[in-house]
Amino acid sequence: MIYVGNDVVDTDQAAQPGDRGWDRFIGRVLAADERRLVRERSDITVLPWMLWAAKESAFKIMRKRDPSAIFAHPGFHVDCDDLTSRLPDRLFPGGTLPGAIRHAGQRFSLRWDIGMGYVHCLAWHPGGGHPDLASVVEETDDAVGIVLDPREAASVHSPASARVRHLARRLVHQRYGLEDACIVRERGNDGRFGPPRVMAQGGAVPDLDLSLSHDGRFVAVACASSLESH
Ligand SMILES: CC(C)(COP(=O)(O)OP(=O)(O)OC[C@H]1O[C@@H](n2cnc3c(N)ncnc32)[C@H](O)[C@@H]1OP(=O)(O)O)[C@@H](O)C(=O)NCCC(=O)NCCS
Repeated sequence: MIYVGNDVVDTDQAAQPGDRGWDRFIGRVLAADERRLVRERSDITVLPWMLWAAKESAFKIMRKRDPSAIFAHPGFHVDCDDLTSRLPDRLFPGGTLPGAIRHAGQRFSLRWDIGMGYVHCLAWHPGGGHPDLASVVEETDDAVGIVLDPREAASVHSPASARVRHLARRLVHQRYGLEDACIVRERGNDGRFGPPRVMAQGGAVPDLDLSLSHDGRFVAVACASSLESH
């Protein structure tokens, strides 16, 4: 089974160097060599958010495998040597970069997509091979007109939360032909909502993992599967 995690950051609305609390934020979230890279490539203003999104994405995978996992950003370590060698002189919208991140001896593969006003990161584990991965980022509108299944609606808490489920349904329908699928977060033993899962015909679809994210103007979905894609 391939697990995916994803994270989108609205970089036009996100904090920037010089903002109040920025240095403390960077010090709290990034490891020493990540901070050094951010200093050396201060021309790439989205770089801190690429690192952040990578950590969030890998954490979402970890949480699926260990629901008691606690998030400590510096414990997730982006492979900075690899990233340094791949960073171009300028990053333009439409650009894509591969990468890797490690946590407690585990390695997660990464792909960053740079868009107009956003950074998106897709992480998957285990890495290697040629897994069937798909992701989509969309600008949010309001959630008017979106009809959700009651099980799906149970964990919705905002227009973006509804919109991202709608986008996820569309993706799994288009890619895997799952017409009646819905995106459900069941409550765990602690009463909290667990990770999102694709349900169809009353049960979770096996061998299909997905991840949701929303920030500012954007919603994003990623999935990985060994199902046959259309
Ligand atoms: C999971 C987490 C990283 C989500 O990040 P976020 O920046 O809030 O938001 P994003 O938009 O990127 O992602 C939100 C989506 O992640 C998904 N998600 C939530 N919990 C998840 C989990 N355990 N595993 C995978 N995906 C999860 C949900 O689908 C959610 O969307 P929804 O609320 O509409 O259902 C974050 O909520 C979290 O749990 N942080 C850890 C807190 C922690 O461990 N603190 C301890 C230190 S004090």
